[in-house]
Amino acid sequence: MYIVQGKPGESSLYPYTQSLLPEAAKISNDATIHHPQEAFMKVTQGHWEVREDEVQWGQKIGEGANAVVFKCKVRGVTCVAKRLKKGMQARSQSYKDLIMELDILTTVALQPHSNLVRFIGASIWDPENPIIFEEYVNGPTLDRYLLARFGNRMGRKTIFSWSLDILKALDYLHSRDPIILHRDVKPANLMLTRDLTTLKLADFGMCKPVDRSVRDVVKHHGHTGTLRYMAPEVLSQRLGNYNEKADIYSASLVLWYLATCQRPPDNDLQRIYERPELEAVKWPSFEGLIQRMWAQDSNQRPSARECMDAMNAFPDKPDISSGIAPGRPTCCNLQ
Ligand SMILES: Nc1ncnc2c1ncn2[C@@H]1O[C@H](COP(=O)(O)OP(=O)(O)O)[C@@H](O)[C@H]1O
Ligand SMILES: [Mg+2]
Repeated sequence: MYIVQGKPGESSLYPYTQSLLPEAAKISNDATIHHPQEAFMKVTQGHWEVREDEVQWGQKIGEGANAVVFKCKVRGVTCVAKRLKKGMQARSQSYKDLIMELDILTTVALQPHSNLVRFIGASIWDPENPIIFEEYVNGPTLDRYLLARFGNRMGRKTIFSWSLDILKALDYLHSRDPIILHRDVKPANLMLTRDLTTLKLADFGMCKPVDRSVRDVVKHHGHTGTLRYMAPEVLSQRLGNYNEKADIYSASLVLWYLATCQRPPDNDLQRIYERPELEAVKWPSFEGLIQRMWAQDSNQRPSARECMDAMNAFPDKPDISSGIAPGRPTCCNLQ
């Protein structure tokens, strides 16, 4: 049994800089290209620009490793504004992540998905300090919600439905060309609506678009993501290349967390063959799925679409037509 511990908000790691990489890795092609001008052009061309006088600022509601998030109104519509923390330079990794987030959001904006936070627009009048406006998701992050349950397990309807939400979001990203790798799937980047019926994937700063034609040859390196949810091939560069199946691995640990209400154990290079206790899931069909999703060999892991199909074929698939929201934990005031 693992013990639920720790505070929400484990921080994400960044790819090693080239100078820290072993010689062999330097020739590989992982330069995550951040072109602020390209992202800004997408904003202008898509008419996504938000003027300063269209924004009414509200209170600060969140802070991640790179960004600070405020509630606000844009043209009267409630949303959130994400901007760099004070003191971050335009050449910093945090800046690059924000630009990547802008790039991804402008890419997916034309086909919004109900399990991804929606793009509202951006202020780019100060190119060193862009502001991204996104849909305000009015419930807690999954991280906060699960920690507040103190190990109290949820019903299968909720586990099933929230898992499908995560897989739908990944299927959307992975089905695109270029494929969008999220690379930081974890409960702190999943947000719940206030009625606890829907999960939305957020935080696209670590995403990486990969042309489908080079999916199997392009090399990515760097321990990218958050250690606890990181796939073995991401953690250990010796295992070779990685692709969108690294997101499937991270999702398997989130699914395990949903099913058990226990935070997955710590992860490090010494434990890349270890997995959390499968029997703790106490739902054989779901255990089978999780086991395939965290296969050591990433080629053996199903795609997000195959995971969804497998879930819909569960012989004991719960009937979610009558609602899926769990009871609220009474131990703390989640907003
Ligand atoms: N669209 C949103 N709606 C409501 N809260 C949000 C939203 N986006 C972010 N937040 C809050 O801000 C925190 C940090 O946001 P995140 O996008 O994860 O930033 P970072 O890139 O710094 O990790 C989240 O954990 C959440 O509490
Ligand atoms: Mg985050």
